Amino acid sequence: MYQLDVKLGRLYLKNPILAASGTFGYAREMEGIVDFAKLGGIIPKTVTKRARIGNPPPRTVETPSGMLNAIGLDNDGIDHFIAHHLPYLGTLPTAIIANIAGKTEDEFLEMAEQIGKASLQTPLAPEGEGAGGFNSPRPLGEGSGVRGFAGLELNLSCPNVSGGVDFATDPHVTARVVAGARRVCPLPIIAKLTPNVTNIVPIAQAAADAGADAVSLVNTFIGMAIDWKKRRPILGNVTGGLSGPAIKPLALRLVYQVARAVKIPIIGVGGISTIDDVMEFLLAGASAVQIGTANFFDPTVCGRLADELPKALEQLGATKVQEVTRKLN
Ligand SMILES: Cc1cc2nc3c(=O)[nH]c(=O)nc-3n(C[C@H](O)[C@H](O)[C@H](O)COP(=O)(O)O)c2cc1C
Repeated sequence: MYQLDVKLGRLYLKNPILAASGTFGYAREMEGIVDFAKLGGIIPKTVTKRARIGNPPPRTVETPSGMLNAIGLDNDGIDHFIAHHLPYLGTLPTAIIANIAGKTEDEFLEMAEQIGKASLQTPLAPEGEGAGGFNSPRPLGEGSGVRGFAGLELNLSCPNVSGGVDFATDPHVTARVVAGARRVCPLPIIAKLTPNVTNIVPIAQAAADAGADAVSLVNTFIGMAIDWKKRRPILGNVTGGLSGPAIKPLALRLVYQVARAVKIPIIGVGGISTIDDVMEFLLAGASAVQIGTANFFDPTVCGRLADELPKALEQLGATKVQEVTRKLN
């Protein structure tokens, strides 16, 4: 009847609804609340080479129709992630896409290699389990035979210590990290870009030319909140990333702009919380979407959006997601 599965380069997903990095923990936190089998995939919190304690509190603040966060990539490091989270993630019946951030280009490549190796060493789930993605005995698109993680998302919206600006503010740096990750890691590679640039199109193009299977558009928009009575910034880090419904029109515009210029699949991210939002992103050019902040006010949102997708496709006379992607009149 309805074909909800999508192919993003070498990455195969059973439906286009993914949980965004940093808003779904390492999935364990959602156990008992979320039916993981309904999700197209889960992207756990970004991991870094070494453990990080993150930024000083307060780290989040609510804003009109959204929130600002400055978590500062708080995590226990990649070795802990592979030793303690991968064995659990490997049991889930959906695609798991690791997300990494390096402080340097070399760190990105070392971690990409490590994630690729950890994937290959993870035994396949028994026949019938994990259908359609992570640990699937079925082929994962052209990445057939790759086990463990279904893909690797590069969080390029983090500062490069040499230069101090985010990796994805520079097309050449973006291209080098993506090309390097492709060289050392057999998994499908997704480049997650920052919206905090004058023109995102050349950066998305650079990622595509360097061999990215897809781009995720976008990470948070830099913002700020002030407690005027105390004459102080509210966030411990002073600035933070704005997310939630407030950024939806901004993210939608960026997806649309990139879709008109760049051929590789786009994963739309930014303020998505309803099926209408999902359909708008697909029409603007997304092949899949990630749900971030909405998980905080409704942890069941991803499963519900996947359930609602067939009816929305039907309203456009479509039976497949591909019949809607990039099909704005
Ligand atoms: C509290 C919080 C933590 C986040 N942490 C990460 C992270 O670790 N890595 C990452 O790539 N994106 C992170 N993000 C960005 C989201 O994945 C997403 O790109 C962004 O929030 C926009 O989507 P949304 O409006 O649906 O939340 C974080 C967002 C929030 C709100």
